Amino acid sequence: MDGNGRWAQRRGLPRSEGHTRGVDTVRSLLTRCRTLGIPYVTVYALSRENLKRPPQEVKFLFELFIRFLKSELPELERQGIRLGMIGDRQALPMTVRAALDYGIKKTSGGEMLFTLALAYSGREEIMRAARALTASGLDDSAPLEAQEKAFRKGLYNPELPDPDLIIRTSGELRLSNFFLFQSAYTEFYFSDKLWPDFDNAELDRALVHYAERSRRFGLTEAQAVTNDACTGHTSHPPPSSPPDAAILPDITS
Ligand code: FPP
Repeated sequence: MDGNGRWAQRRGLPRSEGHTRGVDTVRSLLTRCRTLGIPYVTVYALSRENLKRPPQEVKFLFELFIRFLKSELPELERQGIRLGMIGDRQALPMTVRAALDYGIKKTSGGEMLFTLALAYSGREEIMRAARALTASGLDDSAPLEAQEKAFRKGLYNPELPDPDLIIRTSGELRLSNFFLFQSAYTEFYFSDKLWPDFDNAELDRALVHYAERSRRFGLTEAQAVTNDACTGHTSHPPPSSPPDAAILPDITS
């Protein structure tokens, strides 16, 4: 969700105003994804590295998360969206952890999972998972699939499937420590829009772009059309309320 600071600075506003506007984008993105039947949405709201920003900006962000977690709960519940979190909880203040715990519990009945990545670091997550693999007692003579399964148990949320699509805004062309392990076969969409300007039309463009990709997971085109491996990586449980085809972007245009 890049570009909040630049969005504000270009208007002569404090960076905090950009973050505040960024929350509005999160809100409308979530509603749009829910309407489209997208079962998993994760937002990279705070990296571990972001914690080294000036203390007043970090404090403002924490307060913003708490406000969001309190004010949005009724709407999340109404839409059947459940909250999740990935990242280093210990690096977050007690107040944020408490708001997260409350929100996660309160929305647990929802079927679409909305995950906040907070104090998140892809490298740290890989190290956690490596420790889980070591603790599993499997050695390198074990089948690779079994090793990967044990490794994945150490990810922040082993139930979260690998992302099909990662969107990065504000013209930045890098991963910045996000989902380093999980993005092996992820499709990417880089948008020039600053996060507060990232609207539903731009989300739809990203989805159209995604829908036009040929995903082969290392196989040939001929294999990919018949082989389940191409969907097996990302097979999501279908949402119980299927998306309304009429509101999906027209991928032929
Ligand atoms: C990166 O843009 C953005 C962040 C570090 C914070 C993201 C937070 C929000 C969008 C608001 C809260 C979100 C939720 C889920 C409640 P930047 O500040 O680095 O922008 P810049 O690159 O223009 O400086």
